Amino acid sequence: MTYARITGIGSYLPEKVLTNKDLEKMMDTSDEWIRERTGIKRRHIAADDETTSSLGLIAARNAMEMAEVTADDLDMIIVATCTPDKVIPGTACIIQRQLGAKRCPAIDINAACSGFIYGLDQANRYLVTGGGRRALVIGVETLSRITDWQDRTTAVLFGDGAGAAVLEVSDEPGILSTHIHANGEFEDLLQTQNGVSLGFDASAGVGAFIEMNGNAVFKRAVATFDSMARETVADLDGHLEDIDWFIPHQANMRIISAAAKKLGMSMDRVIATVDEHANTSAASIPLAMDVAVRDGRIKRGDTLLMAAFGAGFTWGSAMLEF
Ligand code: ACO
Repeated sequence: MTYARITGIGSYLPEKVLTNKDLEKMMDTSDEWIRERTGIKRRHIAADDETTSSLGLIAARNAMEMAEVTADDLDMIIVATCTPDKVIPGTACIIQRQLGAKRCPAIDINAACSGFIYGLDQANRYLVTGGGRRALVIGVETLSRITDWQDRTTAVLFGDGAGAAVLEVSDEPGILSTHIHANGEFEDLLQTQNGVSLGFDASAGVGAFIEMNGNAVFKRAVATFDSMARETVADLDGHLEDIDWFIPHQANMRIISAAAKKLGMSMDRVIATVDEHANTSAASIPLAMDVAVRDGRIKRGDTLLMAAFGAGFTWGSAMLEF
């Protein structure tokens, strides 16, 4: 049987760090409130001269180094982001040029926080059906650029960062299954009011920023993580005990803990980096995986369950052997 395996993982975080204490000076909030409600302690913020492509490029290079592949080896580049550098060209094309990957297709996917799982799903299908031998999937965001720094209900939640994975065709087990879903009925719960076609006026300070009904998103996210994990495991005739590591989208420590509890999974099998990185949307899962691979928790041969939920709503999961 032919699989697509993750052979390299990488990430990058901007140097600038904004702690909860820093936010206390910018808005009416407190370190205690943010840690209690979200588990977040700090987030990284892109410098003025950094962009989604520049963050993604470094993460990609780190993943390619681990996989020992060159730009010439790539047969597909997918960039999952809701904060592209420009409307056109796509950020994937910008990174393709910067990498010097001259011959492969390159596309962007916007599935908000589920983007990396959507990217894995697409790359997996592309590789196992003979589209090529190697794909690069990058999840990357500069959410600070669409964050309303006057709005304490959202500004404390988000951060910037990038994660990337190299997938290669293999006879050895790799991605075992992916599931992706969407339900566009809940647009008003998590959105930017405007954008491109609806108009964009950042100077007016309205409309381009993330707005969210936090309570409603919280409830739906927890319920969805639970059903998604069960769907994935059942589809493989497996059991939750077969999973070595659960890597959920890093939105909020309370969502992660509630999802783990519902699944009966102890927190020592859950990878959580939200305290250090906040919610980096499409970057959060590959970023968390890279941290845990490089600190030695995740080892070759481990079974991983990834699950994400985000604006749209979109949601998706991937189960794989690393
Ligand atoms: N600092 C201090 N007080 C605050 C802050 C803040 N940063 N933000 C809100 N408050 C206040 C509110 O004004 C409110 O005050 P009031 O009682 O006087 O009206 C009080 O705190 C409680 O507000 P709630 O919104 O009810 O607080 P809640 O416990 O629901 O926590 C939170 C809010 C953290 C946003 C929570 O709803 C949540 O985690 N939601 C999930 C949303 C999420 O993570 N989305 C990320 C994008 S989607 C995704 O990635 C899955």
